[in-house]
Amino acid sequence: MCGIVGIVGDKATARAVVDGLKRLEYRGYDSAGMVLASNVGFEVKRISQDTSSVALLDDWVNAKEVEKVSAAMGHTRWATHGRPSEINAHPHLDCSNQFAVVHNGIVENYKEIRERLLKLGHEFASDTDTEVIVHLVEERFRLNNDVHQAVSEAFEELEGSMAVVVLNLKEPDSLYMMRRMAPLVIGTDLDNLFVASDVPALLDSVTTYFSVPEDTLITGSVRRGKVVLEPVPEVLEVDWDISKVDVGGYSDFMSKEIDEQPRALRDTLAGRVDKVGVISLDELKISPEELKTVQKIVIVGCGTSLHAGMVARYALEHFVRVPVEIEVSSEFRYRDPVLSPTTLVVGVSQSGETLDTMMALSEARASGARTLVISNVVGSSMARMADAVLYTRAGPEISVASTKTFVAQIGALEILALYLADLKRTLFPSEVQELIAKLNDVPNALSEAISSISDYEKTTQTLLGYERFYFIGRNVGYPVALEGALKLKEITYTPSEGYPAGELKHGPIAMIDDKAVVVAIASKSALYEKLLANVEEVRARGAKVVIVANEAPVDSKLRGDEVFLVPRVHQLFSPMVDVVPLQVMAHYISVSRGLDPDRPRNLAKTVTVE
Ligand code: AGP
Repeated sequence: MCGIVGIVGDKATARAVVDGLKRLEYRGYDSAGMVLASNVGFEVKRISQDTSSVALLDDWVNAKEVEKVSAAMGHTRWATHGRPSEINAHPHLDCSNQFAVVHNGIVENYKEIRERLLKLGHEFASDTDTEVIVHLVEERFRLNNDVHQAVSEAFEELEGSMAVVVLNLKEPDSLYMMRRMAPLVIGTDLDNLFVASDVPALLDSVTTYFSVPEDTLITGSVRRGKVVLEPVPEVLEVDWDISKVDVGGYSDFMSKEIDEQPRALRDTLAGRVDKVGVISLDELKISPEELKTVQKIVIVGCGTSLHAGMVARYALEHFVRVPVEIEVSSEFRYRDPVLSPTTLVVGVSQSGETLDTMMALSEARASGARTLVISNVVGSSMARMADAVLYTRAGPEISVASTKTFVAQIGALEILALYLADLKRTLFPSEVQELIAKLNDVPNALSEAISSISDYEKTTQTLLGYERFYFIGRNVGYPVALEGALKLKEITYTPSEGYPAGELKHGPIAMIDDKAVVVAIASKSALYEKLLANVEEVRARGAKVVIVANEAPVDSKLRGDEVFLVPRVHQLFSPMVDVVPLQVMAHYISVSRGLDPDRPRNLAKTVTVE
């Protein structure tokens, strides 16, 4: 959601900015723009052509003469205040054309600031909340004639969560950077300063990364070829490389990321258990003694991350014997949840920046609960605010539709379940070891599932003409059903819902007819027969049936059902393999309809608004 790229120094070019913006395209946007500034003047370009905006900005850069500038700053906008249009695209400028601003997030008190500034004579060019920032800086500067102080005072007035970068167009050797519950990362090489919403934008240039602390104005300047950061922020360890954000030989990032799942899970599980069988988390600011006292676990997350949490609930309750509640982050914080120091609130988030989950975690902390975060981004806002962190090591996920991070999140949560079971002695050490060995088998099973992709695609061909899809499952198959439905609606816009199979007869079965496909997650378990009985019910009502199974039901061919065959693993770990054919199915339907699976309409990869 909104992408920021800023560069000061020799590498500040329109080309470098647009290349950075391209690597942030996954965040979602509807317009784009940039400002190029040198000591003799500046130039602004804004384009509002939905998801073609970055490509058009690229064309503009290609057609332009290469010119020497001191600073360049670009932005992709995902509209919140003011419709997508050229005037609402960033950067925004003040009345005197001295300052330019790019912004991600929402200025919650923008109305009152705007009214005040209007009375003071400021003229606004856009309908955005962002524009108040730059006029506020101008106003403060008019009063104190000190850019740093003006920006600092302006930031102090802003309410809401946001990342902001201000450039002084009259002296374009510095950037003023601030974040509050929104992502922003600073980078340097020997003599250039970079700032971006996310690491992938900077991977080909930066040698050292820094994390921007919450609510702290960082001024970065390049003077006489030397980069100075004031105050000096903490160094951020980044082990991603450029190949990981390159689509390689694949047609799109989603198919690449589906393929990467065995590696993503293997890396997430690797090194978590030492030679004597002790499991470790990444950053633990809660003592194991305290964790032993945990009486209740609450998992919060959104979308796919929520589904990963739902899968883990079964293992946590079964292995650790503590009650586990699971809740959509955006609902959790407003329901006055009952929390105490013996409650562990687990936030699951690929980006570690999703505002709803971040607010849920901060609510949990305020109520005295302990917090733990499962995140794919080292040093993300959530990772920094929580008492403990367990990183998924899936590498950057570019496609908006999450795939490899879902599998890695489940892997990390299963590790957490085994860690707590070991700590609380609800399992014998030998049982923990046995389960870890079974968990370590899953990456190979995933590779086997990946090798069946062409079979899954062939099966999907038979489903192309159907109107509606219903996914059903029981136990851990239920969150897989939800995830299958989410993938399909996200990237194909097909009406699709996920249900607990036993719930069908309480309403949804009324929707079943011969235009519907019912996908049943039916890996062998104690509830297998019951699930097949539910399948009978929908088949009898004309639905096309597809079964995800680790053993094809004997009569499936006879009945005309389709089967997605997956390898067998421990039942509680089966969602990690059962989800693969559903991801492939959604991807195949999306591509067959001529859609871009990586960039679905209306969606952003990182949702930094409530
Ligand atoms: C998944 O395909 C979606 N893009 C979306 O549901 C996502 O999982 C959700 O927005 C949560 O994001 P997070 O994991 O970064 O917090």
